[in-house]
Order: sequence, then structure tokens, then C-alpha cells
Amino acid sequence: MASRAVSESRLLIVGLGLIGGSLAAALRAGGHRGEIVACDPDADEIARGVEMGLIDRGDTQLAPLVEDASLVVLAVPVLAMESVMAELARLLPRAAADVVITDVGSTKAAIRDAAVRVFGELPSGLVLGHPIAGSEKSGVAAANPELYVRHKVILTPTSDTDPVAVARVRRLWAACGAEVLEMTVERHDQVLARTSHLPHLLAFSLVDTLARQDERLDIFRYAAGGFRDFTRIAGSDPVMWRDIFLANRDAVLASLDDFEAGVARLRHAVECGDGDGLLATFDRASHARHYFESLLNQSSYQAEYQMQQQGKLTFRAAPGGRVVGRIRVPGDKSISHRSIMLGALAEGVTEIKGFLEGEDSLATLQAFREMGVAIEGPHQGRVTVHGVGMRGLEAPSGPLYVGNAGTAMRLFAGLLAGQAFDTELTGDASLTKRPMGRVADPLRLMGAEIDTAEGGRPPLRISGGRQLHGIEYDMPMASAQVKSCLLLAGLYAEGETRVREPAPTRDHTERMLQGFGYAVHREGDTCWLQGGGKLTAAPIDVPSDISSAAFFLVAAAITPDSDLVLEHVGINPTRIGVINILQAMGADLRLENEREVGGEPVADLHVRYAPLHGIDIPADQVPLAIDEFPALFVAAANAEGTTRLRGAEELRVKESDRLQAMADGLAAIGVEHTLLPDGIDIVGGGKAQGASYGGGRIDSLGDHRIAMAFAVAALRADDAIVIDDCANVATSFPDFVTLAARVGLTITQSDEERR
Ligand code: S3P
Repeated sequence: MASRAVSESRLLIVGLGLIGGSLAAALRAGGHRGEIVACDPDADEIARGVEMGLIDRGDTQLAPLVEDASLVVLAVPVLAMESVMAELARLLPRAAADVVITDVGSTKAAIRDAAVRVFGELPSGLVLGHPIAGSEKSGVAAANPELYVRHKVILTPTSDTDPVAVARVRRLWAACGAEVLEMTVERHDQVLARTSHLPHLLAFSLVDTLARQDERLDIFRYAAGGFRDFTRIAGSDPVMWRDIFLANRDAVLASLDDFEAGVARLRHAVECGDGDGLLATFDRASHARHYFESLLNQSSYQAEYQMQQQGKLTFRAAPGGRVVGRIRVPGDKSISHRSIMLGALAEGVTEIKGFLEGEDSLATLQAFREMGVAIEGPHQGRVTVHGVGMRGLEAPSGPLYVGNAGTAMRLFAGLLAGQAFDTELTGDASLTKRPMGRVADPLRLMGAEIDTAEGGRPPLRISGGRQLHGIEYDMPMASAQVKSCLLLAGLYAEGETRVREPAPTRDHTERMLQGFGYAVHREGDTCWLQGGGKLTAAPIDVPSDISSAAFFLVAAAITPDSDLVLEHVGINPTRIGVINILQAMGADLRLENEREVGGEPVADLHVRYAPLHGIDIPADQVPLAIDEFPALFVAAANAEGTTRLRGAEELRVKESDRLQAMADGLAAIGVEHTLLPDGIDIVGGGKAQGASYGGGRIDSLGDHRIAMAFAVAALRADDAIVIDDCANVATSFPDFVTLAARVGLTITQSDEERR
């Protein structure tokens, strides 16, 4: 603890209870040498404070202590603040202009108003504050030097408050291990009414209600952990809490109104046997609680998230090996996102099988929970979505976070533009750099109101309550996300929404809409639908993701003696560019057991090693293989001769600039190539035996597909390939390393490899 920073010569604590006593204890424990004195009406508390070594001396009166005090901390109940301040005003010598006064009261407006009454204005040396820490225990005997460690202290200075005074109070709390932040008085009172005052009121009320119903308090004998956990704070100091509720009346009443409305909704759901309604609320609350816990513990979600941000997870892919076996890669990411979206808007219950439990699709699922949709699962790829109908979504209470997923953000934009409520869409660091103007511009043409950050980047702020109208849109780029966004907005638009695509792009949205009974028409390069219809729930069987399968297709195709079957892979004609390109390069790749599952064609893909040769990738295959180029570049690096790609400028705006990221990675392992604005030429090693290139260190730039591509490349390297910043592999392929090990790749993960 940085107690060196506190240079107050004499600290006066007025009110030596748990809060004031713990402040003294924390300063002492940190080695603070200045004098600490305390005033308390209870002489026994003073004596105990001296005995415990927390204060140097004290008194029941202020007068003998005020002289020479440099900082005064008011730690008395909220309603006692005014009289204490009045006495201070009387006692403080005029010359002592640099005396700083602060307080610890749980409400701020009432104390600010009292200060104005006492001093005639808010003194510039008065810094109102509130440590968010406490205990149901009271009195100096309960003082705890650790009470403020990693707790927040909120200061509420105004523009007239002296910055030097604020800095001194900041130092005081920082020395106790607290995190100090600032907000306005009004915001403080609203936030605390919800997070602290309301829960205390409920705890007091529940215990009192039960105790009164059962005079002999028999009921407590049978009360279990739930009761104990919920009511612990009902043991808190009654006087202190009386004062808080009287002082923060308006904010508490507002939070109580919201709470009563919530209880009334649940009461109604119980009364009518509305299981979906109950489930929706409980699911939302349960997830929110887990999220809160992970924040508190700095664990799981947040720790992982931070790890991603810092790019710490490193893969080390060992050189050599062969690829043999039969595996099923996880569910298709594109279809998983859409299954939740359409399931939520449908009437009825949608049962999903094979759902991708990756971070991106889970973020989509969570976003719908936050808009009031009851969703069960996922349990081993099974998800049950209780649809709320086209108009049944509710306003989320905060921004919707879609993680790393461009698809989610763009499809959500269309879907949310037609809602009655406002929304904000945010994502991770990579997504925040990606262009959203491509959806915001046409949506505006449809009548939507959307704000973006500079350059059309996220976050997106979408205003609700706008009547959309259909448009005819000629897409400037071949993008399934843009097409899907407009079709989803078109569901809410008056008239017809028509989208023309410059080249065929994945058509999962159209297929699924049709599967849900919504007519989507197509003629040549244009598809369209009529707004105002409804969706009817239908079961969805998500095939394995060909984009994830691609890494193993390439792995087996480049590695001598390999023989691999990938089961149940989606082979939608708009996605099979990777198969066509590999076959054109000479790969021994066959489709077996072709069938159709829930409106999508699937097959088992059987691939054996065969020597590859370089090709000019046909332009019409580029949109059909748009996500598979990182893997295909690795195939090219192992083919004989040069592979040329053109017309692929879209790769520059994926999770990373994939042309640049792959070129840098290929350079690191010694693969000859020429980078172009819209493509690349790669000169392959083309050897049937031995290594095609060297090992090396790669920065995946947090792009899952760059990371997996170079992990596969190691099969033909002469040394290990170490890949940094790999945590995002979990966005699309949560078990990649384990599955890779099952077929013969050796990848070790660590968060320490980083230099
Ligand atoms: C996707 C469309 C493609 C693709 C992305 C998923 C989809 O993006 O790269 O991974 O699910 O619609 P674009 O539409 O931007 O080409």
C-alpha cells in the first residue's frame, strides 16, 4: 500500500465506527506516521480505538481536536452530518484555509445540500466521497485494515472543488488499497439506490415480514442457505440505514418502483403458469449474476477477455507428423448465429442441434437473452429458443456485446433497425476496427437511424421506432452479411426489399427464412422479400462448419501418408470454394454420403495426401471461399509452382487484414510470395518429402483463422511454428487443439511463451 503518498500531518476522523476505524487501521497498517485523532460521542469507542493502536488520541468533543487538523473525515450517520459540519464551521479558524474536509456518507445530494446550508456555499476544500465497502458489523472493534482493499471509493467533486483537495483525498483512499473514481452527486445517488440501498431495504423487509408472521421465530430454524445469503445485510446498523433512506428518498423510490414492476411481472407469470416468462427472467438473471461474479473474481469471462486483449495465448505447433482419422468439427458459425436470431423472432419453440458453442455465437445467444428471449442451453450443441414473435423483443438494459463477430454486428444492425426501442452494438478490439458503413448506409436508405463512430466503425447506435421501407439495393461488394442485414431489416419494412449481389454469396439467411415459412424469392443475382410477414419455428440441424473443416482438409492434403474423414460437413454450394480450389490444385478430396439436413446439403469429406500444384484461383471461387484463404495459402505454400489470387480485397477487412497477416507469416517461415492490393502470388515448395519451409514465430493478430492456418503449416515445416495471440481461436473453434491432436497434429498452448 502506498501510504508514503499520504502526507497529512493530522487526520481527524469524526465518528469512530467501523468505517472511520477501518480507515485508521488501513493507514496504520500501511505505515502512516502522521497523527490520527478521532471524535466520537461514545468515550468507550475512543478508548478502544487508542487501545487498538488505531488513533493517537480522541475526545467526545470536536473543539480540542480541530486545531492543526489538515484533513477531516466525517464518518457519522448521514443525518448527523449537518450538525457536525455546523460545529466544524464554527470551530475552524479562518486561517486554516487549506483544511480539506471529506465524508463517507452513502448518499451525496443530502450531504451536499446540508453543506450549502451550513457554509453558505459548497466550500472548495470539501470533497464529498463514499467508500463502497462495509460489513453488517459495526463499531470500532470491527475495524479492518483490509476493508477498502480493491474496493471502490467514489468521489463527487464539482467544478468548484479545489483539485488539490481532490488529489489529497484520492491519496488517502489509494493508500488504503482502494480504487478511486469520480462521478456526479446525482449519478452516485441513483447508482447506489439500485446497487446498495434497494437490496438492504429488501433484506430488512423480508426478515421482518417472516419474523412477524411467526411470533416464535420458528421459521428461522428451517431456513436454509438461500435465506441466509439473501438476508445477511439485514443485520446492518438500523440508524445508519434509516438515515440513508430518508436522505436518498427520490432515488430509492424510483428503484423501488422498478423492482415492484419486476416482482409484479414474476407474480403474474407464476399466477398464469407462464413457464417461458419465468425462464426468460431467471435465465437472464442467472447469466447476469455469473457475469457479475466473474467481474468480482477477475476470473473466467473477464480474465479470458483480458487475456485476449493482451494477446497472451500462444500456440507452439511441432513440425512433422501425418493426419489420420475420422472427426467431426464444430457447428457452422454462420448458421449458428442465424438459428438464434430467427428462432428468437419466430412464433413457437425452435430446437437447434449442432449449435457452435464458440464465443461468437454464445455472444449472440446472450444478446437475445438480454432482449427478453428465453433460451435453454447450449448443452452439447442443443439449444431451445422460445420465440417471442416479430414484435416480441424487449429493450436491453445496456449495450449488446457481440464479441469478435462481424456477422453478428451486421445482422443485428438490420434486425434492430426495425425495433421499437433504441440499441447500441459493441464488440471487441478487432471488431471495433471493422467497417460498418456498408450496412449503416443502405439501412439509412430504408429509413433507419444509425450512428457510428468515426469512419463508420462500431459502436453502432440504432434508434428504435422508425418505420422502414423496402429498397432496391445494388451491393458494391459481394457480402452475405450485408445481404442478410438488409433482408432482416426487410422483414420489418413496408413493401419489398431487393438485394442484388455482384457475385453469389452464402445463402443461409434465405434458406433459413424459407425453412421458417417466410417467402424469399430469387431471380439471377437478385433476391427479395416482402415485409410484414411472420416466422414459424422449425427445427434446425447445424452442419459442421466447412470453414473449420478447411484447416484439416489442407492439413491432410499437404502431408504425405495422410487419410482423413471429416463428417457431416455443410457443403452449401455458396460455401464450397475451398473444395473446388483444392481439387483444382490436385487434392485427392471426395464427397461421400451426400444428403440434405434441415434445408442444408451435407457430406462426409474424405481427403488423402496427393501432390498439389499451383493454380490461378478462378475469380468466381473467391466469394465462395472467402473465409478459407488463410488455409488455402498454406496449401499454396506446399504446392508445386505459383498460386495466384486476385479480386480478394475483402480479405483486408476481416478479423485482421488477412492478406497482410498471411504475407507476414509466410515471410517469417521463408515462403516466397508477392503481396498485391487485392491478392497474392505464393511460390510453393512442392516437395513430396521433407520440409517445404522453415519454422518461425508468427503474430496471428488475434485472428482465429490466421492462428489455425499456421498451426497446420507446421506439418511441413522443418522446425516448430510459434503463433502468438491465439485466444480468439475459441470464437469459432473452441476445441481446435484437442481435435487437432486426435488426428496427429501436436500443438501445445501456453500463456508464457511470449517473449
Ligand atoms: C458471413 C459472411 C462472410 C464471411 C463471414 C461470415 C456470414 O462475410 O466472411 O465469416 O455469416 O454471413 P462477408 O459477408 O463480409 O463477406
